[in-house]
Amino acid sequence: MEVRKVGVVGLGTMGAGIAQVCVQANVETIGREVTEELAERARGRVAHYLGRGVESGRLTADERDAALARLTTTTELADLADCDLVIEAVVEELGAKRELFRELEDVVAPDAVLATNTSALSVTDIASATERSERVVGMHFFNPAPVLPLVEVVRTEAASDDAVEAAYAFAERIGKRPIRCGDTPGFVVNRILIPLLNDCVRVLDEAGVTPEDLDTAMTAGLNWPIGPCALIDLIGIDVHVHASEALHSALGEARMEPPSRLVGMRDAGHLGRKSGRGFFVYDE
Ligand SMILES: NC(=O)c1ccc[n+]([C@@H]2O[C@H](COP(=O)([O-])OP(=O)(O)OC[C@H]3O[C@@H](n4cnc5c(N)ncnc54)[C@H](O)[C@@H]3O)[C@@H](O)[C@H]2O)c1
Repeated sequence: MEVRKVGVVGLGTMGAGIAQVCVQANVETIGREVTEELAERARGRVAHYLGRGVESGRLTADERDAALARLTTTTELADLADCDLVIEAVVEELGAKRELFRELEDVVAPDAVLATNTSALSVTDIASATERSERVVGMHFFNPAPVLPLVEVVRTEAASDDAVEAAYAFAERIGKRPIRCGDTPGFVVNRILIPLLNDCVRVLDEAGVTPEDLDTAMTAGLNWPIGPCALIDLIGIDVHVHASEALHSALGEARMEPPSRLVGMRDAGHLGRKSGRGFFVYDE
């Protein structure tokens, strides 16, 4: 099944990045937001990042203009009727995603593939809101989507080979490095990363080490490209705590429970880079 047009629902951090990746890969893309203003803001962000690509010589001004011309936005779900693939990137709430998938199946063709970018919810629970769970898969992109190559293509028990392979082939076509995996909590990366980062935070107190020294330990001792404290600041303390809670409630392992230090930082509004303060202080 060939994807001629893609729809992206929710143009926040992830959706705008995914839309950017699609238009840069020559795919006609329509993004749906809840208001015109949010849609315009997302379009502005895509234009900004494409513009940075021109400044750094990664693409020409003509390529930027052509990519931007392939992106349309709407507030009407019905405008996604001719999409062969729709990637959902709305808020991480099961009720909101189930409602959206129910609406989407009435809008798109019967053989369209519906993908969710959920990080921590069960794709099966989202798919079961529809009457065509064989066409529903996970396509889990990583943040920032235009930079990180991985896409976890998540297969539920009900998914058809055709839908999974269409999602996999599409991810390859837009220049990503997809992998196939089952619909288990945290999929692959978060299943490993979340308890690991929680261990790192617990070591801060257990070993009486500073965030700076912990990051040095892991970058200088293990060749990690970024230290764990800097990484949690980048992810966002709130996002990490939320994902830890989801994994802990699904699997019950003690290491998955968010460390109290992180919960305290979240409650104090120290959310990492986006709030200007997390383990470290940021100027911008
Ligand atoms: N931020 C990350 O690092 C990251 C990484 C991988 C996956 N995810 C997942 O991607 C999804 C989106 O996360 P995000 O960080 O981009 O969130 P975000 O809050 O930045 O963006 C969500 C957007 O969806 C819009 N929206 C909400 N309901 C909508 C609807 N019915 N139709 C259209 N738009 C709607 C909101 O207006 C908002 O702009 C979540 O499921 C999250 O778990 C996030």
